Amino acid sequence: MDRTRTALVTGATSGLGRHTAGLLAATPGWRVLLGARDVDAGLRLAGGLGPSTGVVPLDLADLGSVRAAAAAAAGHAPIDALLLVAGLQSTRADRTSADGFELTFAVNHLGHFLLTQELLPHLAPGARVVVVSSGTHFGTFRQSGPFPGPRWADPRELARPRVESGARAYATSKLANVYFGRELARRHPELSVAVYDPGLMPVTGLARAYPAPARALYAALAPLVTRLPFAQEPAQAAAQLAALVTGPAGRSGRYVERDREAPSSPESTDPDRARELWEVSAELVGVPAR
Ligand SMILES: NC(=O)c1ccc[n+]([C@@H]2O[C@H](COP(=O)([O-])OP(=O)(O)OC[C@H]3O[C@@H](n4cnc5c(N)ncnc54)[C@H](OP(=O)(O)O)[C@@H]3O)[C@@H](O)[C@H]2O)c1
Repeated sequence: MDRTRTALVTGATSGLGRHTAGLLAATPGWRVLLGARDVDAGLRLAGGLGPSTGVVPLDLADLGSVRAAAAAAAGHAPIDALLLVAGLQSTRADRTSADGFELTFAVNHLGHFLLTQELLPHLAPGARVVVVSSGTHFGTFRQSGPFPGPRWADPRELARPRVESGARAYATSKLANVYFGRELARRHPELSVAVYDPGLMPVTGLARAYPAPARALYAALAPLVTRLPFAQEPAQAAAQLAALVTGPAGRSGRYVERDREAPSSPESTDPDRARELWEVSAELVGVPAR
């Protein structure tokens, strides 16, 4: 490798993002920009990981912060890998981002959409982009158990706060992640895009918005649940995710379930929805639909 490669990881201060950032920072030839909404946590993490890291303040629930983060990351261009790991699971769908969008859709999709758009001119040719989705986008018992499935609608509707369960809004945002990854691969053949599903990781911070008794029960069951075939430790998932960036480039636009390419849900393969989501997202965040 002729130069140090740079990766930007969103959601780097917890769970999957934290483990992945640690692995990449320890990989010779790589430096990692830690996307962190809690800058102190980012700085503490960077201090522990060593000199091959930097911190980029990033609140995906605030488009102004996303633009500033992209500008800061662009100062380290070319960016060789963009890992869109940050995610939010809420108990409701009536909370809003700084810009008035439904919070889950804003953080899990719109913020990442804008970050990617702003960084497109600063990505190295062949740059890896990994969008972290979830099996909940299937909405089937086999893939996501009793978790409610997505309910797709006009993306302008999805961006509006509404009365709906936060879990359903989460599954819908994870379906948006698949459409986004596919459309990014289609529009930008110069990139290598993967949509990654880590499976269930019960020991991350994703359930933090749930009521204390539910969290306590989940935490108590976590060691058992982690042993189920569809679950894994975040450290295992992080190794799979990091390999999507440091290993051989696969087919752009593929869906990767844990350690292997797999079909995403039939619903997620609709190219018209993917195109519409892209165009409406561009309109909502105020960028040209390129
Ligand atoms: N856990 C699972 O079972 C599971 C299964 C399938 C897919 N996933 C996906 O895996 C990804 C990582 O989740 P995780 O399980 O590791 O959960 P986690 O521990 O809660 O990590 C989520 C990360 O997202 C960050 N984040 C949340 N809101 C943000 C915002 N407004 N701006 C910037 N960053 C924000 C959090 O920041 P802070 O550190 O500041 O809180 C945290 O670093 C998510 O995309 C999730 O959908 C998880």
